[in-house]
Amino acid sequence: MIPNLSKIGVQMSSLTGIKAISKDIIETLQTKQKQDFINLSAGNPVLLPKVEQMWRDCTAELLASSEYGEVVCRYGSSQGYIPLIEAIAKDFNRRYGLSLNESNILITPGSQMLYFYAANAFGGYTSKGDLKQIVLPISPDYTGYGGICLVPEALISYKPTLDIDTKAHRFKYHPDFNNLVITENTGCILFSRPCNPTGNILSNDEIKKIAVLAKPYNIPVFIDSAYGPPFPAINFKDMTLVFGENIVHCMSFSKAGLPGERIGVAIGDSKIIQVLESFQANLCLHPSGYGQAIAARAINSGALEYISTEVIRPFYKNKILLIEAKLDQEMPKNLPWFLHCGEGAMFAWLWFNNLPISDLDLYQELKQVGVIVVAGRFFFPGLKEDWSHKYQCIRISLTASEQQIETAMKRLAEVIQQVYQRSSFKNPSLAIGSFS
Ligand SMILES: Cc1ncc(COP(=O)(O)O)c(C=O)c1O
Repeated sequence: MIPNLSKIGVQMSSLTGIKAISKDIIETLQTKQKQDFINLSAGNPVLLPKVEQMWRDCTAELLASSEYGEVVCRYGSSQGYIPLIEAIAKDFNRRYGLSLNESNILITPGSQMLYFYAANAFGGYTSKGDLKQIVLPISPDYTGYGGICLVPEALISYKPTLDIDTKAHRFKYHPDFNNLVITENTGCILFSRPCNPTGNILSNDEIKKIAVLAKPYNIPVFIDSAYGPPFPAINFKDMTLVFGENIVHCMSFSKAGLPGERIGVAIGDSKIIQVLESFQANLCLHPSGYGQAIAARAINSGALEYISTEVIRPFYKNKILLIEAKLDQEMPKNLPWFLHCGEGAMFAWLWFNNLPISDLDLYQELKQVGVIVVAGRFFFPGLKEDWSHKYQCIRISLTASEQQIETAMKRLAEVIQQVYQRSSFKNPSLAIGSFS
């Protein structure tokens, strides 16, 4: 049978962006198992024994408690499991001197779902027919934002400015406040901090500036803290959280070891939380209970904080330090390669200025030497204008072993050397320092 789909049906059932390339990666890994591929494309957190043990312990406690039946065998509140909401409120009030109560917190089935609620509650067409935009103030950003809006034309993102340290082969993106447009046509603002794919952490000043621009129009600013503190705390430099009337702080338990349980959290003004809660009640009643009950235990006992800062963060920090060292050692000094400052998250982001081939061709060439990365173009959802930079980047996951990272960086350096060399005869301007 060929299904007769609605417009939304066609949109939501097609594989776009990174999902399309994931298919190629899975097929490659399955069909060429004999060749030892180094997979640097993974977005799944590494299963760290101490992290798994913490969740096992919380589960054992739950199973032994009288709470079990109430959690698993009955429907719950559309706002989420109340003991988890209370645990988060208490934890945040203690840590950050806030005065949150239950009305400020919503639990969702994963944070991806939370962004779906936000994008469609605040973005898209109003009853008067005006288009409200979902603004990503900085591009590249999380590829998953590309699929969250039922009105795709509502999603818009902006090119950043680049802070480049040519000598050190490093760079960093900043929001371009000269071009960022926030008006009454903006529905909501969204960005990840630390950022997937770049590891960027927007400064508090940058965030406050965005929030101030949004405030006069009552625009909510959703800060996706899937990698941020207090958990999973995959930030490699100090960062403080920014709260405010129109800021919704969003979290996920996925990178703290519970991606399978699907738990996202929104913390913000009760009026915004109410909108999202009703959206959730209509869509799926409420998130499942088991994960929420063990999450509450991990917060209340302090285990989650300990595991995040003492186990999860050091694991990924060591990987980014290794990648930095290996690239500095292996990559040709005379070529215009640039590593984004690795400030957090689970990825390294590399830009090759004036790359003579496309990012997809580079992905294919690296596959030939047994290294799988993700082509950068998938991380610019909502970017309307064409920008050559989009085709000059790759994302490298920090989930591989040290040995694999060392070998892969060596192979990457060899491939890059060949790629630039092949075309240097045709285009002598491909030298460090010439930017497009
Ligand atoms: C930046 C960012 N936000 C949100 C998500 C979605 O996370 P989840 O739905 O598992 O909470 C991810 C997943 O990789 C992510 O990287």
